[in-house]
Amino acid sequence: MKKISLTGIKPTGDLHIGNYFGAIKPALELAKEYDARYFIADYHALNTMKNPAELNFTIRQVAACWLASGLDPEKVIFYRQSSIPEVFELTTMLMAFTSKGLMNRAHAYKAAVQENNEKGDDTDAGINMGLFTYPVLMAADIIIFDSDVVPVGKDQVQHIEMAQDIAQSINANYKQQVLKVPQAVVQENAAVVPGLDGRKMSKSYGNVIPLFAPEKALRKTIMRIVTNSQPVEEPKDPQDSQIFQLYKLFAQADEQDALAGRYRAGGMGWGEAKEELFRVINRSLSPIRERYDAIMADIPALDKILEQGAQKARPIAAATVKRFRKAAGID
Ligand code: ADP
Ligand code: TRP
Repeated sequence: MKKISLTGIKPTGDLHIGNYFGAIKPALELAKEYDARYFIADYHALNTMKNPAELNFTIRQVAACWLASGLDPEKVIFYRQSSIPEVFELTTMLMAFTSKGLMNRAHAYKAAVQENNEKGDDTDAGINMGLFTYPVLMAADIIIFDSDVVPVGKDQVQHIEMAQDIAQSINANYKQQVLKVPQAVVQENAAVVPGLDGRKMSKSYGNVIPLFAPEKALRKTIMRIVTNSQPVEEPKDPQDSQIFQLYKLFAQADEQDALAGRYRAGGMGWGEAKEELFRVINRSLSPIRERYDAIMADIPALDKILEQGAQKARPIAAATVKRFRKAAGID
């Protein structure tokens, strides 16, 4: 039997190339050798997104992005988290085995607490229970489909470790393998895609290169990449420049060597390097952008694909819940 790969993306805004290289592309690679189950984590997004029109739109946006990037819904079970009610039943079960202390240690929660403390606000200001228990819902997403591997960016590894902890304590309690213990898979060479300012590319830093920006806007964004004040003539170290780090993601090996050579030789300004970067990014993204626009032009067809995916997913999810209930004496 093939092993199972599962991942989810939270529909919280425009996707960027960090999401593409850190999440979507490695997941689609894995789908070639694993039984893949990929989904839109829309209830996770609800923690922060309270505007219905916006959430409704971003759910479709993320779904269209997966499909435009090459996900084949005939081969991959592709669905919305909200279409699988069994996930929420399992979440309740997992809660009973999740210590509060484990949740206190979750990075996202800790960061929110620290920010409140620094501002002198109440420790828990603005923190809802959805954020606090976020890793439990995520563990349920993963565990319910008997996932072997979970392709994610580095920032999500802690969540997978928590899912492991929870599954292991359940298996230990019932002295049998009720739940499969998942493993994270991190795409090492693209583990952290740098943003325009050199920090990790992230919506929350406002430093992203969006995946589906029209050509003109894409060019403008790339021109905003922050550089140092080295003059044109000066030789430059390619490894030291986020323009080059980004270029490596899109260019072929010979193009990379050529640009690295121009950096080292001197005589190339940052503007020119950005033009080169724009050329290769636009070359890679324009076919994806065209497919994306076509998919977004027919939302009912898109929704049908997601619904068909949910139909395939639910019996698998129901079987896990049933197994747990039996082990727990709630059958
Ligand atoms: P953001 O940081 O923009 O809010 P998310 O946290 O929604 O992005 O991340 C969605 C997925 O994309 C996760 O698997 C995450 O690890 C991955 N990801 C996000 N930003 C990057 C990045 N700069 N480099 C690599 N992977 C990333
Ligand atoms: N927490 C993930 C993120 O922010 C999204 C997610 C939700 C997920 N459930 C998941 C990822 C299950 C992998 C597996 O990016």
